[in-house]
Amino acid sequence: MSNSKILVTGGAGFIGSHLVDALVERGHEVRILDKLIEQVHGTDGPGHLNPHAELIQADICDENAIRRALDGVEVVYHQAAEVGVGQSMYEPERYMRANTMGTTILLEAIRQRRAQIKKLVVASSMSIYGEGGYHCSRCGNVAPPLRSTEQLRSRRWELECPRCKNELLPIATSEDKPLFPTSVYAISKQDQEQLCLVMGRAYGIPTIAFRYFNVYGTRQALSNPYTGVCAIFCSRLLNDRPPLIFEDGEQSRDFIHVSDIVQANLLALESDAADFHALNIGTGSATSVTEMSKMLAEGLGKDVEPQIVGEYRQGDIRHCVADITRAKTLLGYAPKVELKEGLNDLLEWVKEQSATDLVEQARLELTAHNLVQ
Ligand code: UD1
Repeated sequence: MSNSKILVTGGAGFIGSHLVDALVERGHEVRILDKLIEQVHGTDGPGHLNPHAELIQADICDENAIRRALDGVEVVYHQAAEVGVGQSMYEPERYMRANTMGTTILLEAIRQRRAQIKKLVVASSMSIYGEGGYHCSRCGNVAPPLRSTEQLRSRRWELECPRCKNELLPIATSEDKPLFPTSVYAISKQDQEQLCLVMGRAYGIPTIAFRYFNVYGTRQALSNPYTGVCAIFCSRLLNDRPPLIFEDGEQSRDFIHVSDIVQANLLALESDAADFHALNIGTGSATSVTEMSKMLAEGLGKDVEPQIVGEYRQGDIRHCVADITRAKTLLGYAPKVELKEGLNDLLEWVKEQSATDLVEQARLELTAHNLVQ
């Protein structure tokens, strides 16, 4: 699709702003709907707003603003969301309102203009899987529930087979794995994805949901202690403090550079092969939290050892890495940025930043709500 009028909700955010830049660069006319939340953008707002995009500063539940934002638009990228997993557990109403209700209100306005909308792309999340896929050498592939409190209290961190109690091996997680969201945030992301796919299908609006894995890159909100582990560790290291590692540090994630997320979103414009599908967008490679903390410390030239606190966070999963076959097959998506290269890009930027380290404060908040034990 060339020279389209495109709305990016959450277009001032970490992922949204990179997407806006790429769309503007390709000659599209871009409008942003963003509330510029202070927890993410601070009091001065973001320094990276694209000057060639139009900004409507408004809440995603503001029906009038949404109507204005959709005027003349053919493509909608829905990236707006409240994104703190831990925080969602003690401010559930805020998360459900912005994510679930906000998406519903947006969809109602889209439905009324369905002839005009050629594509809807929604940001979903790996969080909706709960634990990733696993293999038991005796029982075959299994999709285990979260580890029990008893197991976590006895610090047996690895997953055990629900049938035979054998220790499980993590395997790539495919889109067919049963969903098992373990936080209010994850429930609201599942809502966003399914609301969009269901309404898209019912009203013939070509819709794609991308299940993002653990995204890192420039413009992450370093001072937001509820963001992902990569930004949190950068903020700790910038302040010469040790990254705090939960469990034993051997838990792993699929870290994906933001430019590969943008790549997938751009591919969505060029093909209808993935319409009405949910697709994993990750790299297919696992990295442990300890490895990540070491790479960041080394990249920032900080001689700071991480501190393994041995506590665990309520609802945390142990391993989750993406099976990206479906995105490859349907969209021709292939991750381009190796972790080392991506972290270099991130750290060049991080070195120029200052960050208020609010991690201890957030941990105390979570502990007060029994969400860290
Ligand atoms: C969660 C969401 C994901 C979201 C991401 C960032 C789930 C399953 N996934 O991912 O959708 O994009 O948050 O908001 O809910 N860790 C530490 N020390 C820290 C912070 C984290 O050791 O200071 C560990 C965690 O215990 C976890 C791992 O790092 O094992 C990754 O944590 P995090 O970055 O918060 O992401 P997820 O929980 O994977």
